Amino acid sequence: MSWPAGEAAFVTGAASGIGLGIARALVAAGAKVALADIDGARLTEVARELTEAGGTVTTVELDVSDADQWAAAADRAEEALGPISILCNNAGVSGGGPVDQTPLELWRWIYRINTEGQFSGVSTFLPRIKSRGGRAHIMNTASMTALLPTAGLSAYSSSKIASVGFSMVLRDELQGSDVGVSVLCPGTVATRINVSAEDAQAKLLGRQPDAALTQQMGTVLAQGADPDMVGQQVVEAMQGRKFYIFTHSDFEPLVRDLYREVEQAFAETDDRHGPDPSARMLVSGEDPLAS
Ligand code: NAI
Repeated sequence: MSWPAGEAAFVTGAASGIGLGIARALVAAGAKVALADIDGARLTEVARELTEAGGTVTTVELDVSDADQWAAAADRAEEALGPISILCNNAGVSGGGPVDQTPLELWRWIYRINTEGQFSGVSTFLPRIKSRGGRAHIMNTASMTALLPTAGLSAYSSSKIASVGFSMVLRDELQGSDVGVSVLCPGTVATRINVSAEDAQAKLLGRQPDAALTQQMGTVLAQGADPDMVGQQVVEAMQGRKFYIFTHSDFEPLVRDLYREVEQAFAETDDRHGPDPSARMLVSGEDPLAS
């Protein structure tokens, strides 16, 4: 039996799209899965499907943005399946608009789910994982918009940049341990993220869902990757302990352009401040307090 067979995983946003694809792939690889989502009705349907497919699953209704719900959710999952050693912080919402047209309420809603939700997941499960020891893995779903900031999606895109940054720090903090970290940066994936975004924003801001926009986005999404194949890719990346998980290489030239801009800015820096103590520590391992 190879990893993750027999392990127990906790997947957020598991009632739809990429989260469901990850759950299906984990079940196929022999893992037990706690399916966590805010949408209880869909969770029930998904649990039925996976149980019929021979999987061992449990459902946990959870709003990832509510830090107070996490401990009980983790307890419920572990009572049902045993110690969780795989955490997939996948739940996320899109939406928003240009910066000057994004109400603070909407900005906060997106950040609480996409950014705080991932922090809560890690701060709930990591102490449990560390105290038990053994191989474990944490996977956060960000987006290609984290590497290529997208105009018109200010809250979403910047929340996903935070997710990549959070994952990078986490990887550094867990270096040399048995806990692997991955960050998923998908391009377009054929899910219903457009529908849930419009519905939730309508509820949150008390405005009518924009049916035309939902349909327009739906047309683009429908041409995206198959969420089940993305789920399979996630499991393979966790098995291989790969950090970045990209779904499409088409974006590479654009990302390269961004890094060229960074290189150019470094080349133009005249170092008028002298050497930096933190850089000395990070680049050559010197202790700035020793000098
Ligand atoms: P989806 O809308 O099909 O699935 C998201 C799931 O998260 C839904 O089941 C929803 O009920 C759940 N959810 C929403 N708010 C929640 C909350 N507060 N607590 C718990 N669960 C909650 O969307 P999709 O596309 O599968 O999204 C999954 C992740 O993939 C998200 O983080 C999204 O930002 C990311 N992503 C999606 C892309 C795409 O093209 N579909 C591209 C890049 C990233």
